[in-house]
Amino acid sequence: MHAFVLGGSKNIGYYASVRLLEQGASITFLLRNTSVFDEDAKLQSYIKDGKVRLVKGDGTNLEDVQKGWEAALEHGNGTLDLVLFSIGGLPNLSLKKGIVLATPDLCTRSLLNLFRTIPASLRAPSAQPRLVAITSRGITPTSHATLPAALRAFYSLALGAPHDDKYGAERVLAHCMGVPWTQPAVKPAILPTGWEALPGLPAEGGYRRVLIVRPSLLTDGECLGDRGPKKGKAPYKAVAGEVDGGYTVSRRDIAHFIVQEALPHWDQWEGKGACVVY
Ligand SMILES: NC(=O)c1ccc[n+]([C@@H]2O[C@H](COP(=O)([O-])OP(=O)(O)OC[C@H]3O[C@@H](n4cnc5c(N)ncnc54)[C@H](OP(=O)(O)O)[C@@H]3O)[C@@H](O)[C@H]2O)c1
Repeated sequence: MHAFVLGGSKNIGYYASVRLLEQGASITFLLRNTSVFDEDAKLQSYIKDGKVRLVKGDGTNLEDVQKGWEAALEHGNGTLDLVLFSIGGLPNLSLKKGIVLATPDLCTRSLLNLFRTIPASLRAPSAQPRLVAITSRGITPTSHATLPAALRAFYSLALGAPHDDKYGAERVLAHCMGVPWTQPAVKPAILPTGWEALPGLPAEGGYRRVLIVRPSLLTDGECLGDRGPKKGKAPYKAVAGEVDGGYTVSRRDIAHFIVQEALPHWDQWEGKGACVVY
């Protein structure tokens, strides 16, 4: 298995990548800072073995993402089985504007760039690599209404900016997956008018080999998935569509879900949006 990972410098993208490497996969990482693994003995050994290749690039830059695809194809000797997209940004508190993202359309634009630069050899439906993209639970109005009350209030107060961006990413994913969009339009500052006609973007429904992962509030807790069920209860809930209850989930368990559950049972998850919560 050969994978192209965007957002793998840390957290979910990193934990999932390590799991994939431990299973024997090779990975091409698109990274803003290619020194990020300099002190990471595990990754260094994979780099030495040629299993890991690092490509410098920014997800918001079209040419960088294109170079990432090209390097991934070359590293995989012309094949690519998986793309993992976990790019995200931490919100900052601005005295004037409240909670803001340094790049308000970070995920939306990076995902558009990813779709726009798919190499020609990977465009036919039968040649498309599986794409796992991480957004968030509770970002569409319909999904927001299903959140536990306390989480609903917190999301509305604190996460407006990142969720505007994730909402744009969901819109782009729905387009490529051919899922009808029945929610309000995305803010034009996130997704400019006419985006559907951007050069290179697949036609509506032109890229369906996608799983959207929508975690609840993320923690740095341990991976419960590796321990297996406790008293017959699954360590976390992963549900296609909306889920009842559940406030948090750890980043390590999201990586566990992607690598240990979703990829081995891809037929069950392709085309779905999976909420993952405790
Ligand atoms: N926080 C929550 O409770 C929550 C809940 C649900 C979903 N999510 C979302 O889930 C996703 C994964 O979460 P996480 O905690 O693993 O994310 P994270 O720790 O914020 O990591 C995000 C990754 O994106 C990369 N990145 C940021 N800007 C980039 C750019 N312009 N070009 C290329 N890479 C860039 C970062 O690389 P650098 O090392 O270069 O910064 C990092 O590898 C994120 O989108 C996050 O917003 C978060």
